[in-house]
Amino acid sequence: MLSYDPFSPEVIEDPYPHYRRLRDQAPAYYAEAYDTWFLSRFSDVWNAGSDRKSFTATRGVAPAQVMLGETVGMQPSIAVMDPAAHTEMRALIADHFKPGRVASLEAPIREMTRDCLEGLASRGAGDVVAELASHVTVRVSCRLLGMPIEDADYLVDLVTRFFTRADEPQGTSDDGTEAYQKMLDYLTEFSRRRRGADGAWSDVCQAFRAAEPGSSLSDEHMASHLFLLVTGATETLPRVFAKLVYRLWEHPEQRAEVASSPALIPDAIQETLRYDMPTQMLGRRLARDLELHGQRMRAGQGILFLYASANRDEREFPDPDRFDIHRRAPRIASFGSGIHMCIGSHVARLEARVMLEELLARFPEYEIDTEHIVPLRSEMHHGFAVVPIHV
Ligand code: HEM
Repeated sequence: MLSYDPFSPEVIEDPYPHYRRLRDQAPAYYAEAYDTWFLSRFSDVWNAGSDRKSFTATRGVAPAQVMLGETVGMQPSIAVMDPAAHTEMRALIADHFKPGRVASLEAPIREMTRDCLEGLASRGAGDVVAELASHVTVRVSCRLLGMPIEDADYLVDLVTRFFTRADEPQGTSDDGTEAYQKMLDYLTEFSRRRRGADGAWSDVCQAFRAAEPGSSLSDEHMASHLFLLVTGATETLPRVFAKLVYRLWEHPEQRAEVASSPALIPDAIQETLRYDMPTQMLGRRLARDLELHGQRMRAGQGILFLYASANRDEREFPDPDRFDIHRRAPRIASFGSGIHMCIGSHVARLEARVMLEELLARFPEYEIDTEHIVPLRSEMHHGFAVVPIHV
């Protein structure tokens, strides 16, 4: 009998064989221990994103929130709002994340990347995650949100601690909870400091503030919105970038092609997002009874969308376990779909493109020290915590 538990060490080590069994044998799988359903096929995950009636995000979207009722990290923000409030709030900030607006970040991203590569060149080696991808992405977040760049390293440390699991992962660790509280304190204090200063709110903060007439948005509530943006922007992309660098190294012929034709870089990013989606799943609660694949799901139960499985579904992607930059998949599950689709996808793609352009231009034949790669150990994220590179 098929059994699947996202907290089990075997699943955390390599979830993909488990996902294949789920897709083939139980596309709507029920885990009684958590009173939660798991959807593993691409079409189900994709369609769920646009279903405005069957699901609610208001009781949390992270796996531990859905399965265990954990409340750490469940701040009031657009991620945990339903229409129509969600639609209204999201519309207020959406402009700031459109391609035309985020294009202004390209020059600073390039400059920061060049500085990081200079550092790697002088040392001859370094960690792709800490010394390049996280370093750049957290600074981009600071720019986007108007936060002091000097605090970037403090923030990235808190984000990393928040997502790092204890030895037996069952959601947020004690240290992660402490880091979460520190981050909220920091962001609340930041909001308080920004409030009075004339015109000092960054654009995005200003947009959130406008959402609540009479400026009733409290500093704590503003901190919740910022928490989502800081964590959403800082945790995921470095994981994707680390895999991008790793996969190209693993496939030297594809790396050589990309290095000689940088126009292929967006295709390589798209394929890595598909092949190595770091966020394994996010979910909702059922807002009404639903029938799927002959299973009866009940209102109030949890439901998790297995993005990483959807991206390897052979019903959507031919030969899905092959990494191929020429695949050009027209749609992938990595930014979600429908109403909560990732608002920062253009920022993420821009960061990845510029960092890879610069890396390949300078070190087209970098080496990776596979012995010292450190894998992530979490029910939520799969990928690498540390990727040592030699240049
Ligand atoms: C490769 C990097 C990224 C990946 C894989 C990713 C993935 C996702 C996914 C799957 C969702 C859908 C959540 C759901 O349906 O519950 C989402 C939502 C979101 N993401 Fe991203 N994200 C990335 C980068 C970013 C960046 C750079 C930002 C900010 C600048 C960001 C901000 C957000 C926000 C605010 C939401 C919530 C949107 C809503 O609820 O309406 N993300 N992201």
